[in-house]
Amino acid sequence: METAEIARRFLSFFEKNGHTVVPSASLIAEDPTLLLVPAGMVPFKPYFLGQRTPPFETATSVQKCIRTKDIEEVGKTSRHATFFQMLGNFSFGAYFKEQAIPLAWELVTTPVADGGFGIDPERLWVTVYLDDDEAAAIWRDKVGVRPERIQRMGMEENYWSMGVPGPCGPCSEIFYDRGPEYGVEGGPEADENRYIEIWNLVFMQYERGEGGDKSGFPILGDLPKKNIDTGLGLERLAAVLQGVDNIYETDIIGRVLHRAAELAGVRYGDDHGQDVLLRVVADHVRSAVMLVGDGVKPGNEKAGYVLRRILRRSIRNMRLLSGTDTAYMHDLTAVSIDAMKDIYPDLADKADVIHGVIDTEEAGFADTLRSGTTLFTRAAERTRHAGGTVFSGSDAFQLHDTYGFPIDLTLEMAAEQGLTVDETAFRELMQRQKDTAKADAKAKKLGNADVSLYAQLLEGAGATDFLGYTDVLSESAVRGIVVGGVSSPAAREGEKVEIVLDRTPFYAESGGQLADTGTLTVEGRAVVDVEDVQKPLPGLFVHRGTVRAGEIAVDDTVHAAIDTGRRHAIERSHSATHLIHSALRNALGPSAGQAGSENSPGRLRFDFTADNALGESRLSEVEEEVNTVLSGDIAVRTEEKTLDEALKMGALAMFGEKYGDRVRVVEMSDYSVELCGGTHVPSTARLGIVKLLGESSTGSGVRRVEALVGVDAFRRLSKESALVGRISEQLKSPREELPERIDSVVSRLRAAEKEIERLRAAQVLQAAGSIAERARRHGPALVVAEQAPEGAGGDELRALAADVRGRLGEAEPAVVALTAVPKDRPVVVIAVNKAAQKAGIKAGDLVGVAARALGGGGGGKPDIAQGGGTDASKVDEALRAVEARVAGA
Ligand code: SER
Repeated sequence: METAEIARRFLSFFEKNGHTVVPSASLIAEDPTLLLVPAGMVPFKPYFLGQRTPPFETATSVQKCIRTKDIEEVGKTSRHATFFQMLGNFSFGAYFKEQAIPLAWELVTTPVADGGFGIDPERLWVTVYLDDDEAAAIWRDKVGVRPERIQRMGMEENYWSMGVPGPCGPCSEIFYDRGPEYGVEGGPEADENRYIEIWNLVFMQYERGEGGDKSGFPILGDLPKKNIDTGLGLERLAAVLQGVDNIYETDIIGRVLHRAAELAGVRYGDDHGQDVLLRVVADHVRSAVMLVGDGVKPGNEKAGYVLRRILRRSIRNMRLLSGTDTAYMHDLTAVSIDAMKDIYPDLADKADVIHGVIDTEEAGFADTLRSGTTLFTRAAERTRHAGGTVFSGSDAFQLHDTYGFPIDLTLEMAAEQGLTVDETAFRELMQRQKDTAKADAKAKKLGNADVSLYAQLLEGAGATDFLGYTDVLSESAVRGIVVGGVSSPAAREGEKVEIVLDRTPFYAESGGQLADTGTLTVEGRAVVDVEDVQKPLPGLFVHRGTVRAGEIAVDDTVHAAIDTGRRHAIERSHSATHLIHSALRNALGPSAGQAGSENSPGRLRFDFTADNALGESRLSEVEEEVNTVLSGDIAVRTEEKTLDEALKMGALAMFGEKYGDRVRVVEMSDYSVELCGGTHVPSTARLGIVKLLGESSTGSGVRRVEALVGVDAFRRLSKESALVGRISEQLKSPREELPERIDSVVSRLRAAEKEIERLRAAQVLQAAGSIAERARRHGPALVVAEQAPEGAGGDELRALAADVRGRLGEAEPAVVALTAVPKDRPVVVIAVNKAAQKAGIKAGDLVGVAARALGGGGGGKPDIAQGGGTDASKVDEALRAVEARVAGA
């Protein structure tokens, strides 16, 4: 049975049983405790918790899900996927175990001809939670499952929650027996590879608190109602019903798998290692398609990082499989979109965008690999030069952090060079970075309060009325106060506080526009300085700040006033951003999509997708166009429209951004038309002047321009002009001639440096003749072992040793050992002639002897080798050790 047909049957079965069919929510979770949706119940969480009243009593859905916790297992087991679809039926207090269990059994066992999945009951086993006698009795008495087929399991397996505070409850799972060839008899208790879980029925009736992930958390109490949440893995069931060994070989995922094998020129099934790589590609490409389809862009954090990691793993696997660095993602993406568009028809419309994002990331990763490889090679050389064999954790971290090198790539490349990697140090640095990022995010965005607290505030106070499009002042009522993460009736002088008002002129940070700052004043009693405003939940404005004086309490009336100077400077930046966006699209074409922005007072940052750098000349064209347009004094108009109307009039929407039915359209004649919730200047002439500060890259395929606006731009220009004046004086050259003048000074300086370098090398080499004369016999060979003249570095040392060796000829074995101490670290070079090598004397061995004496290591070829150490006082000892070793040879 095809995957799409399984999904159709599931929905129609529950629809026939009175459930409302609810379309899949986006993979990007609305729940602030999650990055991406990991389960079918996520969109319904507020209904389970009783925070919202559901519009239906029962529902059914096929929900797109992403889980990456077990990403390392993908391809190795038969059933781990990063993207999967969860079929579910949900009851919000309407029915409970007595109905949910028989319904599930009916659908699974009804013959295919009658609309079911037609699974032989003899293949099925079930589990229930330890003390759930009720569920066990329903399976036994109502459904007729034999008692020995009902197993009891503990909290880890049969108690479900989202892993964080929220709804939870005991569960009961249905397992399919794949047969004796997959493992031992004895049910799911005995073997989870032979008996695979297909359906999880959760009896959602409690609320859990903080604690362990899967067990050991406290139960806080009953949910308002007894609910049902079930989850049936679509891909797993497809594997069962299609009679294939694993989910990667099912109809949909299998198409990418086979295409990947074809492209890489390998055969699936020939080699286990290769098969795993292919399955990872098949799974990951599909996940990437679905993530991009829902608006995720590759990035270095959050969902963007999940996507980037998945894509990079696929690209790298294709490189390993094919042995080439050909770009295969476009082809594989097309196959995956085609395979999935039956279930998600919108993928076909988004195909161009999806390809754009994935192709750009692939090209960017190729650049990453190139530049990262240079850094890697340098770090590896440094390691060996210092005589080490361990690639440092900080180099591995830099590769990861700056170049996006996955650690396994660094490990592999290091191994190829005979080096190990200090993984402990690497992991420590990663952890430190994570902790900092977490602390930052928490401190900045969410304050200290738990999300459930914000949900309560929103429920109690209702959505905040935003007045800031027209007003900068308001009389408002205090609806909620949070101090130290808990709801509080009042806050006193000096306290950090979060305040919810019924209405506010304060703009909350969103759409790239920074929040307003200002004050909340309770007449004659208190003043609060507002430092930031966030919307932790849609519609809820939280004013964060400090009580400067007095005491503020819930139900107080406050005079809210924003800092208007700052707001106007932010508005200038925001309007300038729209103009820059249009000018960039005019210069680069419509593919220059907005990828993020930040509008702060007098300054802005705009990120956009582009394959290549814009370059100086196009950048100044963009700048000139923006300044010409703005001087036309165009009125900035804002209007509310339906999303459809807005898109029809060509308004630019940010891909992947979520919009409601009514949207705000910001127009600057027809030069710029964008959907935007931000605040703007009344007319473009207010911007005065916009100065671009240049462009940079923020990661694969995303470029960033920064700009100053208005008086900030003027100050910058004025400062630069003064700077040029000073340089012109210093170089005694008119302004216009400065570039040529600087060129000539720099090239003369370079030539002089080269000359010094040449003279120094010549001086060192001059010593070669006299050094060769000091060669003395030690056992079978002539040996010269001494410190090189002052000023020699590693390179000169090699050249000098080779020169001396040449002077000693080939008439008899000869060994040259020279040391130098550049920058306090001793270096040794050994050169031996052919006659010596024939006599079994190898430079590589001798350098080991010397370097050990110096407290380090080294190596090289039999004719010339280099090493180093840490103890400069041991140089003589090292040289004598070399003589002794030759004497004994
Ligand atoms: N929420 C449960 C799960 O994810 C059942 O839908 O397994």
